[in-house]
Parts: sequence; structure tokens; C-alpha cells
Amino acid sequence: MSEVWNNVYKSDSAFFGEEPSNFALLCFNHMKTNNIAKVLELGAGHGRDTIFFTTNGIEVEALDYSVIAVEILDKIAKEKRLPIKPQFFDVKNPLPFPDCYFDAVYSHMLLNMRFSLEDLHLVFSEISRVLKPKGLNFFSVRNHNDNSYCKGIEIDKGIYDIEGFQIRFFTEKEINDLLAAERFEILWIKEEYEEPVTLYLVSSKKP
Ligand SMILES: C[S@@+](CC[C@H](N)C(=O)[O-])C[C@H]1O[C@@H](n2cnc3c(N)ncnc32)[C@H](O)[C@@H]1O
Repeated sequence: MSEVWNNVYKSDSAFFGEEPSNFALLCFNHMKTNNIAKVLELGAGHGRDTIFFTTNGIEVEALDYSVIAVEILDKIAKEKRLPIKPQFFDVKNPLPFPDCYFDAVYSHMLLNMRFSLEDLHLVFSEISRVLKPKGLNFFSVRNHNDNSYCKGIEIDKGIYDIEGFQIRFFTEKEINDLLAAERFEILWIKEEYEEPVTLYLVSSKKP
């Protein structure tokens, strides 16, 4: 599936635009008030949010399984002389960092890709492992109010193929269950329409 994303980024190296997402702006405010200094970003893409966090004084480790996305972000980081070293990495594997290493983990529209529930449990347990105690886990996922929900072909329970993109649409209960399994406390869940998708924006805290 990384080929789908490689093709997206080959055809448009700034597919998601150059400005940070609204979710990144929202999370940044919470990062500042919680003295967050070191962040892991999963599924960073071409790095619109990575660049925003880094230029605002946060140290970010950025991972993505699209080799093209990693090359684009690496090039921008070098041109702008930013201390970002993006890594090619599939988050279906254990994260390449020690325990209790990050103040926060951030992902925007990654966890609604084609992950089985088993994969998602592994991702959340790995996020918990690399977070410091009381560390924050920010993520956004597409939800059942999304215009594309139930469109396309259902290829797995709750996962639809929509023009080649394989997407899971979350209920609030699924989010609660995944977080509860790792004993994360939910700080907030907000809903946002970010054209053309409808998202749950989630902030949660490790015990
Ligand atoms: C919807 S895009 C969002 C990109 C970025 N977060 C943004 O908002 O600009 C999802 C990203 O997740 C990456 N991705 C999908 N599955 C992945 C996986 N298993 N491991 C790592 N990255 C993955 C894709 O390559 C893509 O860059």
C-alpha cells in the first residue's frame, strides 16, 4: 500500500499543502501549556506539521512508510536547515525508540489507514511504551460522519476502498476501547470537518 502514497507524493510533493493542519495548531497550544519538548510524529507525510512543530521549537522524530514522502521532507529540512531527520518506517512494527523517550506522540489521519484492530492495539501499546509517564498521545482519525463513510467497497470490517485509498471510519466507542486497553485517559475528543474529511481529534494521557 505504500505504493499508493508514493504515487500521491510523486505527483504532488505538497499534496496536503504547505501550511500546518488545524489539528497541528490545536495540539501545539496544548504542547506549549504542557511543556512538551520532544515529539514523535507517525505518518508524517511530506511534513507540513513536522516543519511547523520544529520551527516552533519542538524536537520532532518523523516516521512514514512512503520513501518518497521521507525524501521530500528530508530535502526541505536540509534546504531550511531544520534539525529533522525523517525515517522510513512502517508503524505495524515495534517503534525504533527506547521506553519512556517522548513527551508526546502525534499523528494526523494515519490510524484510519488500513490497520486491523490487532495492528491498532500494537500501535497503541507501542505509543504507550515510548511515552514518558503522563505523556500525551494526540491523534486524528476519520469517523462515521465522513461523507465517504460506507462509499466504495468494504474490504474488511469497517474498512472501505475509496478510489484506491483504504480507509477505516471510527466510532467514538472504538477509540475509547483502544485507549482503555492501554489505560490512556481521554482528555478530549472533538469533531472537525477538514475538507473533504470528517475527523475525531483526540488527546489522551498515559498514566
Ligand atoms: C492521510 S496521509 C497524512 C499525512 C500527514 N500526517 C499530513 O496530515 O499531512 C497518511 C500518511 O500515513 C502514511 N502511512 C500509511 N500507513 C503507514 C504505515 N503503516 N506506517 C507508516 N506510515 C504510514 C502514508 O504514507 C501517508 O503519508
